[in-house]
Amino acid sequence: MLLPESGLPERWYNIAADMPNRPQPVLHPGTGQPVGPDDLAPLFPMELILQEVSEAPEIPIPEPVREILRLWRPTPLFRAHRLEQALGTKSRIFYKYEGVSPAGSHKPNTAVAQAYYSKQEGRERLATETGAGQWGSALALACRLLGLECKVYMVKVSYHQKPYRRSMMETWGASVVASPSEETRAGRTILEADPDSRGSLGIAISEAVEDAAGREDTAYALGSVLNHVLLHQTVIGQEALAQMELAGAFPDVVIGCVGGGSNFAGLAFPFIREKVSGKEIDVLACEPAACPTLTRGPYAYDFGDTGQLTPARAHAHPRPRLRPGRNPRRRAPLPRRRAAHLSARPRRPRARRGLCAERRVRFSGHLCRAARGSSRRRSRRTRSTAPS
Ligand SMILES: Cc1ncc(COP(=O)(O)O)c(C=O)c1O
Repeated sequence: MLLPESGLPERWYNIAADMPNRPQPVLHPGTGQPVGPDDLAPLFPMELILQEVSEAPEIPIPEPVREILRLWRPTPLFRAHRLEQALGTKSRIFYKYEGVSPAGSHKPNTAVAQAYYSKQEGRERLATETGAGQWGSALALACRLLGLECKVYMVKVSYHQKPYRRSMMETWGASVVASPSEETRAGRTILEADPDSRGSLGIAISEAVEDAAGREDTAYALGSVLNHVLLHQTVIGQEALAQMELAGAFPDVVIGCVGGGSNFAGLAFPFIREKVSGKEIDVLACEPAACPTLTRGPYAYDFGDTGQLTPARAHAHPRPRLRPGRNPRRRAPLPRRRAAHLSARPRRPRARRGLCAERRVRFSGHLCRAARGSSRRRSRRTRSTAPS
């Protein structure tokens, strides 16, 4: 299902306007008090800080941002005919494919917006962290398109394991350094204690935040978790809604994977808006069982980085800092029964589990069952047992 260029949304959808419960405030890492715009100003351009706390239902997408997004958007919505056959389902399964962006993921949707607002405010450089390199390459691309410098702290183990991701970032002009590095105090502290440190996303975030906080010409950019990132990703779900209409269908269930929450939010939030206005629809968030942050663990404040430089946010963290940062909008504010959460655990294949098993992933059974055609009745059962 393809939309014409004019199908690119003109506004982002802000779910804050429809949330019955407000998320807990973000706390200053030094004082423990709620942060204000001035606390965040060294790191982020003011326009993004305002979006972070905005309760306006829609925020216009600046035309220069739309012009860049149009290079690959609207992205296609495909019908997964062969998956349907393999599962033996009568249900129609559709998937929204964000892989057509130049960096190969959904991440450029927010990278372009963040680079745009940073440039507008006069910053000349962005600093960020990256794990496997998806986010780093998205930001490198955006900086290239908008004429900004880009500095990427890449988790050391990935830096060595994924040289092609690194070359992609460098091709777009970014400067990439293995983290922990000697370039920041946070990096040096880790290296003093463990010269062979393989790095982590939490350490790389500390380095990027320290870099940005120490230079007036530099802003910090984060690829997921924050409210404004989720907001920018809502182009995905808005397009998908229009594409489902083209397909003459409305989904019984919308399913997305959750890392930091941005692709899930981007797809699901516009459908949740439909649910708020009375449409029947289930929304399922699927998390890795190796690092569950939706279905397990205390819901509590934690820092987003190892060096405890970032503002503290409330989120679930059964294994703190394994993957720092989760956006609490994915969990706290959704009214009960509006979204459910599932854990997917890599498993040994078992013949009877069919395709999901062949893929060595057990989508906790529910996804397979939903796909097999009895999604409505069964996912209701899921919803009532899973915490939301
Ligand atoms: C392609 C892709 N999908 C999903 C994710 C998970 O993050 P999020 O939950 O923010 O979409 C990432 C994170 O790096 C990613 O690169």
